[in-house]
Amino acid sequence: MIVALLNQKGGVGKTTLALHLAGEWARRGDRVTLVDADPQGSALDWSEQRAREDLPRRFGTIGLARDTLHREVPELARTVDHIVIDGPPRVAGLMRSALLSADLVLIPVQPSPFDGWASAEILRLIEEARIFRPQLIVRFVLNRCATRTIIARETSQALSDQDPPAMRTTIGQRVVYATAAQIGRLAFEIDGDSQAANEIATLAAEIRELIP
Ligand SMILES: Nc1ncnc2c1ncn2[C@@H]1O[C@H](COP(=O)(O)OP(=O)(O)O)[C@@H](O)[C@H]1O
Ligand SMILES: [Mg+2]
Repeated sequence: MIVALLNQKGGVGKTTLALHLAGEWARRGDRVTLVDADPQGSALDWSEQRAREDLPRRFGTIGLARDTLHREVPELARTVDHIVIDGPPRVAGLMRSALLSADLVLIPVQPSPFDGWASAEILRLIEEARIFRPQLIVRFVLNRCATRTIIARETSQALSDQDPPAMRTTIGQRVVYATAAQIGRLAFEIDGDSQAANEIATLAAEIRELIP
């Protein structure tokens, strides 16, 4: 399975979710490669930090921030079970290439009832990609949800009305995600019983149901 985390907005959680999904599937014994398609290379930085500290590798990380992604990724996918693409901000060529590589596109968004979740641009790029890849599956993932607030409740009511639809599993606003990223860890390595570890496992399982 090839999953791409895409949203041209920065800071929505593409890298956080890419690392955690890759880590979750690897923890279950699948072979995973994470493709860092962001020229900033924050996923690569994370994996280099782990290497420096002699932490277990868990999954390979490759920097591929170029718009030939759609030709290179299928090749990479032959040797592993899953490829997770950590997408770039605001680079249309790269975004197009990532859209052409993926079986599933996840668009992390911070839920807000006040404005639409995605910009017109990414939705337009997705429509364009669907011409070539009618089988492409696209879902929003609500990230940084403040649980039990009115905003979160209103937003979750709107989940099923969205096009593209949203994943049932939502990801909370939790300090452990920020800490994990900073110190080259994954949330489950900091606390295996945490809500963060649980919601990532639930999201990973929901994705596996979408793409058997
Ligand atoms: N669910 C979350 N809870 C708390 N902090 C988060 C969460 N998701 C992302 N962050 C933090 O927000 C910042 C941006 O996230 P990041 O994954 O780097 O976004 P992107 O890759 O889309 O630019 C990072 O500092 C990250 O640690
Ligand atoms: Mg990022």
